[in-house]
Amino acid sequence: MQASCARVMALATLVLGSLSPEALDACKAISSAAPGRVAMQSSLQYNKEVNSYWSIALHDVRPACVVFPKSATDISAAVKILNKHEKVRFAVKSGGHSVTPTHSSVEDGVLITTSAMVGATFDKERMVAYVKPGGKWNDVIPMLEKSGVTMLGGRIGIVGVGGLLTQGGISFLSSQYGLAADNIVEWEIVMADGSIKRVKAEEEPELARALRGSGNQFGIVSQFTTNVYPIGKVWGGTRLYAADKASQIFDAYHNTFKKGEDTKAAIILSTFWSPFNVQFFIIFYFYDGPFPPTSGGFAQLLNIPYTTSTTRTQSYSNLLRENGELPDALKARISFHTTTVPYVPDRPDIYEEIRAKFGSLTQHEINQRLIPECSISFEPIPATVGKQSEKRGGNALGLTADDPDRMMLAIECAWNLSSDDDLFVRLSEELTDWIEEQIPEWTKGRDIYLPYLMNDAGKGQNATGTYRDFGKLKALQAELDPNGLFRTRTGGFSY
Ligand SMILES: Cc1cc2nc3c(=O)[nH]c(=O)nc-3n(C[C@H](O)[C@H](O)[C@H](O)COP(=O)(O)OP(=O)(O)OC[C@H]3O[C@@H](n4cnc5c(N)ncnc54)[C@H](O)[C@@H]3O)c2cc1C
Ligand SMILES: *[C@@H]1O[C@H](CO)[C@@H](O)[C@H](O)[C@H]1NC(C)=O
Ligand SMILES: *[C@@H]1O[C@H](CO)[C@@H](O)[C@H](O)[C@H]1NC(C)=O
Repeated sequence: MQASCARVMALATLVLGSLSPEALDACKAISSAAPGRVAMQSSLQYNKEVNSYWSIALHDVRPACVVFPKSATDISAAVKILNKHEKVRFAVKSGGHSVTPTHSSVEDGVLITTSAMVGATFDKERMVAYVKPGGKWNDVIPMLEKSGVTMLGGRIGIVGVGGLLTQGGISFLSSQYGLAADNIVEWEIVMADGSIKRVKAEEEPELARALRGSGNQFGIVSQFTTNVYPIGKVWGGTRLYAADKASQIFDAYHNTFKKGEDTKAAIILSTFWSPFNVQFFIIFYFYDGPFPPTSGGFAQLLNIPYTTSTTRTQSYSNLLRENGELPDALKARISFHTTTVPYVPDRPDIYEEIRAKFGSLTQHEINQRLIPECSISFEPIPATVGKQSEKRGGNALGLTADDPDRMMLAIECAWNLSSDDDLFVRLSEELTDWIEEQIPEWTKGRDIYLPYLMNDAGKGQNATGTYRDFGKLKALQAELDPNGLFRTRTGGFSY
């Protein structure tokens, strides 16, 4: 081991002069403490991991080495060594779907990836699942489905487990059971000092709340214990609509709030802009049962003529797998940006206003550059979600039973050239700034609590700063991470 390690290091210094000696020292020390778990720049394992980020912009970010822990003990060894190498930056990566540079990627530092910790086991007695932090929902959901149960996870099968569960997480089942993170009852987590802690929500409700929606700011989770629920055949899929259906679509969307939807029903309404002024809608449909409802806004949406459709009765795992096929094919540089918008009963026009605004900001740039697309996804968060959150002890976002109906927007663009990286982030920001200026007028000055969903937030956004308990959470973070390991030495939405 000693000899092979020395060989790797010698090779590394030969080939990779640009890496800092500090980072290489840290890599070497981790490799000694956790033998066989560290891959250097020249290896296949390293390249496979670094090229697995969803946004191809992150493939250019080259860590000094990649650590592949198999257990909490391995993670702990790496964290203890990082504490001794204060100049070395690091990142924690699960599925790599965060598109924000530094959040799960690091240049010339230590990348800790959970890709060797994948899978879920079902505990029938406790009605919980033990879930590893690596892999994707396409790995986890089929395993649980064999036992007739499921957990709250992503709506698109290709998304990673660790990021979704630590940042909050909206599931198709959220109206029934709350956010994905609300359903976690135990965490095995490596804290800033490298100690391995088992946090039970029953015993440490305040820390549990903080862990539900704070991303990587309290530690590196090595295992989640989560509630599971029975699942049978579901109904769903996607439908594609031409842009001339916009007013019908938004009218029905407004009615999903107005009439109060069956909690088993869920949608994502995405509106797209692509080159040559081609605009269209894709709606992701889900119903937790074999047949969709016949009344309400959901049923009204189903009556709108579509261009193509994949909706049908199928297994939940198959639905999630199919939902991932389009986004998986998108090989581009990508931006994500979010804001939270209230449902305003007497303003059925605001969705079209938001759409028109982003069109005016982006369509010309899209036409000129022939980039794949920009989109806005409207993600309904009806009042029932907060009721379920509070029942389960609450989360860092501060969702409660008193919450009004809201929606979270995921604003996304995909492009080819690094010279456009700033442009699309700036246009997304212009849209969210504009929306946030309009909100007081839309609500006639009513004060509505509008936290961001960290999962959908992007570069430069202060997600934790929108949480109502920001001050308390910041103090707790400082107490548990006094040297600022997670706050200052890795990217992420920090306190
Ligand atoms: C196509 C697509 C569909 C999506 N659908 C949904 C959806 O349905 N619902 C939803 O809520 N969100 C959704 N998202 C957003 C998604 O939740 C975030 O992008 C999330 O960060 C992805 O998790 P990941 O593990 O793939 O990301 P990564 O980039 O690997 O990680 C994201 C963040 O989480 C931290 N992290 C990861 N693992 C751990 C760990 N074990 N311990 C501590 N911190 C950790 C990382 O350090 C990083 O800061 C979607 C995103 C995309 C691109
Ligand atoms: C952008 O990249 C995609 C995928 O690599 C490619 O098909 C397309 O032609 C590129 N567009 C431009 C304008 O370079
Ligand atoms: C984020 O928002 C909080 C609350 O408004 C604020 O106190 C904090 O300074 C902000 N952080 C940054 C980096 O802007």
